Amino acid sequence: MKLHKMKDGVYMIPAVHWERRLFDSLIPLPDGTSYNAYLVEGSEKTALIDTVDPMKAEFLMEQLKDVKRLDYIVANHAEQDHSGCISLVLEKYPEAKVFATPKAKPMLMDLLLIPEDKIITVEDGETLSLGDKTLRFIHAPWVHWPETMFTYLEEDKILFTCDFLGSHMATSEMYATDECKVYESAKRYYSEIMMPFRTSIQKNLDKLKDLTIDIIAPSHGPAYNKPEFIINAYHSWVYDEPGNIAVIPFVSMHGSVKKMVEHLEGALKERGVIVKPFDLTVTDLGQLAMALVDAATVVIGTPAVLAGAHPDAIYATYLANALRPKAKFISIIGSYSWGSKAIDQLSGLLANLKAEVIPPVFIKGFPKEADFKALENLAETIAQKHRENNLK
Ligand code: FEO
Repeated sequence: MKLHKMKDGVYMIPAVHWERRLFDSLIPLPDGTSYNAYLVEGSEKTALIDTVDPMKAEFLMEQLKDVKRLDYIVANHAEQDHSGCISLVLEKYPEAKVFATPKAKPMLMDLLLIPEDKIITVEDGETLSLGDKTLRFIHAPWVHWPETMFTYLEEDKILFTCDFLGSHMATSEMYATDECKVYESAKRYYSEIMMPFRTSIQKNLDKLKDLTIDIIAPSHGPAYNKPEFIINAYHSWVYDEPGNIAVIPFVSMHGSVKKMVEHLEGALKERGVIVKPFDLTVTDLGQLAMALVDAATVVIGTPAVLAGAHPDAIYATYLANALRPKAKFISIIGSYSWGSKAIDQLSGLLANLKAEVIPPVFIKGFPKEADFKALENLAETIAQKHRENNLK
């Protein structure tokens, strides 16, 4: 099989997983995904940067069929979709050594049973010569595990970022040519994987400022031969103020909560707020995660189930809390028949959010005139807070 050449001596090995629809048994993959390894051949040594998911081991080994000697395997990240074939590669190339951060070493030993003496740890800024090519290791913790690093190929100005700046997108394109499509996939990826680590991402984006980068080569989705496209997108997602947007994830069992959501939506729109409702019984949670990147307000809607909140609303609340979006305001609306501790239950799940809590509107039965008025007051409070914060 022919290697995908990026530059002289630099090859992408893209294991495209068109049909995969769920990642980590958790994350929806509407566009599939890919796992990119990279082969760098210097005048004296050859290195493989990351491997691929074990489900694509056969593809990787086929790609390496004509590679006679491999000296180094760089493990930018210990998660198995990139490290999972290291043992297999070591079987084929027993002379090879694995390079990883000090934090990655025990993980590789624990997760993949790689012998300790096979792994060489590298410090931040350390270089490894391949002869006429030089790899520089840049520690980049918490994108999205504690052990992560980037590898910079100095002579060709290629930055291998593993998960960082990647996208869950199956594609036959080496580079991001359809920028609208890639933007959507990269934003989905950011919202689901990277958003909880915004502070670390800011530090790691800062680290890239002093590098001249011609190509960003992540290990999911296409590479970027216009690096500013993805760097600018990340700057916007990480640094920009949230927009004048209210996201309403909700569940309705008998129509009461749906009526409340519709009324709140109308009242917010009348006041100039952009509204994104998500019926959680049919929602792709990736779409909800993407909406959370930009929203200033989150309003969770739930009916009462067994004296608590609906399980889908509990999960959405847990998710919003875990993803740590930039939302500044949060509230809850809902309806019950004979009793509910839904407000206490959902409020207790929101400890991570640094958002101001706006008093909930929780009603008995189908909404009545006073309930509609309460929802309009909620809409007015949200709109006013957005105006006070100059949200656009
Ligand atoms: Fe693509 Fe964190 O693994």
